[in-house]
Amino acid sequence: MTTIRFIREGLDIQCKPGENLRELVIKEQLQLYGLKGILGNCGGVGQCSTCFVSVEGGTSNSLSPLTTVEEEKLKNRPDNWRLACQTLIKSSAVILTKPQSPPSNLKDLKEAADNKKLPR
Ligand code: FES
Repeated sequence: MTTIRFIREGLDIQCKPGENLRELVIKEQLQLYGLKGILGNCGGVGQCSTCFVSVEGGTSNSLSPLTTVEEEKLKNRPDNWRLACQTLIKSSAVILTKPQSPPSNLKDLKEAADNKKLPR
């Protein structure tokens, strides 16, 4: 098992390596989508660009490499953004859901996440 730390929600969720990040978020009933994605997302096939997450911690190997879909859809986005539907979990990572709408206390949330050791 490995751990994904969701800093907005303040939760550590255990999962199996190889799990899809979007499916994990939905399974755990966390909010992945902003309004646009709630109203109409593509169901995880990499077409709507509404399932953004940012990777705030872990190792360079924590997640699967960018897919060609992500390389196209994330061209003008920060380097640490991913499309959750295109991302497979390999080992523990720290994730911010909906980075396009960061919480006002993001700095505090990041500090709190950094202060807890991330299980492998
Ligand atoms: S759910 Fe549409 S791009 Fe990820």
